[in-house]
Amino acid sequence: MRPPTRRALAIFVASLMAVFAGSGTALADHHERSATGDAADAEQGKMRPTGSLMVNGLRTPAAFAYIKDDEARARALFAEIAKVMQHPRCANCHPVSGGPRQGDRQQAHIPPVGRGIAGIGPYGMQCTTCHGTSNATYVSMTGSIPGAQPWRLAPSSMGWLGREIDALCEQIKDQSRNGGRSLDDLVAHHTKDHLVNWAWHPGEGRTPAPGDQETFGALTAAWVAAGAGCP
Ligand code: HEC
Ligand code: HEC
Repeated sequence: MRPPTRRALAIFVASLMAVFAGSGTALADHHERSATGDAADAEQGKMRPTGSLMVNGLRTPAAFAYIKDDEARARALFAEIAKVMQHPRCANCHPVSGGPRQGDRQQAHIPPVGRGIAGIGPYGMQCTTCHGTSNATYVSMTGSIPGAQPWRLAPSSMGWLGREIDALCEQIKDQSRNGGRSLDDLVAHHTKDHLVNWAWHPGEGRTPAPGDQETFGALTAAWVAAGAGCP
C-alpha cells in the first residue's frame, strides 16, 4: 500500500534529517572555530557581513564577501565549491576511468560494473536493474541502494575523481569536456539538477555532501559573478 509506506519513509527521513542536522551543527562549530583561528579572520565580527556564514560545514558566499579583490574571491569560492565536487557522493559518479565507485573510501563498485554505452551500464546489467528512482532502504540490514532519476555514470570527459582542484576548475569550464555548458548552465546544473540534489539525500548509511544544494548553487553563482577564476 502506497500511503503507509510513504508515511513510514517520511518519518524515517525526518529522523535522519534530525541526525544530520545535529552533526552538521557540530561540524559547523568546529569549522567556525578553526576559521576564527586564522589571523586574517581574527576580527571576523567586524569584517564579516551579517547572515549565515556556514551551513552544514560549507561556507556560504557571505563568508567570502570580505575578500574585496574579485580574482582572489573567485579562487577562494572555487576551493569551497570543490569541497562538494570532490566529495565521494559526487565523485563516485564522476570517475576519470573505469566504472562507478562506492562508499566514502571510493572503492570499485561491487558487483563490478562497467560504464557501458552512455554511462547506463553494460547490456544485461544496466544501472537501473538495481538502482531505482529513489533510495531503497535495506530491509534486513542497515544501509540502502542509492537511487535517483536517471541513475547513470557521468561521461569520462566529465570525470574528476582524484584531480587537483585547479585541474577540476579548468575542466568544468571547458565546453569541449563539460557537455557544451556555459557558466550560467553550470550554475543552473548545480542549483537544480536532480543527481546533484541526491548528494544531500544519499540514503541510509551514506554521508551527505557538506552544505545543501541551495548554498552550493549560490557559491557557484557567486564564483561566476566574480569572474569564475581558478585556484
Ligand atoms: C548518479 C551519478 C551522479 C551523481 C551522484 C552526480 N553526478 Fe554529476 N553528472 C552525472 C551525469 C550522468 C552527468 C552528465 C549529464 C549530462 O551531461 O546531461 C553529470 C554531469 C555533471 C556536470 C556537468 C558536466 C561537467 O563536467 O561540468 C556537473 C558540473 C556535475 N555533474 C556536477 C555534480 C556534482 C557537483 C555532484 C554532487 C553534488 C554530482 N554531479 C553528482 C552523474 C552524476
Ligand atoms: C547488480 C546491481 C547493481 C548494478 C547493475 C549497479 N549498481 Fe550501483 N550499487 C549497487 C548497490 C547494491 C549499491 C550500494 C552498496 C552499498 O553501499 O551497500 C550501489 C552503489 C552505487 C554507488 C555508490 C554511491 C556512493 O556514493 O556510495 C554508485 C555511484 C553507483 N552504485 C553507481 C552505479 C552506476 C553508475 C551503475 C551503472 C553503470 C550501477 N551503479 C550499476 C548495485 C548495483
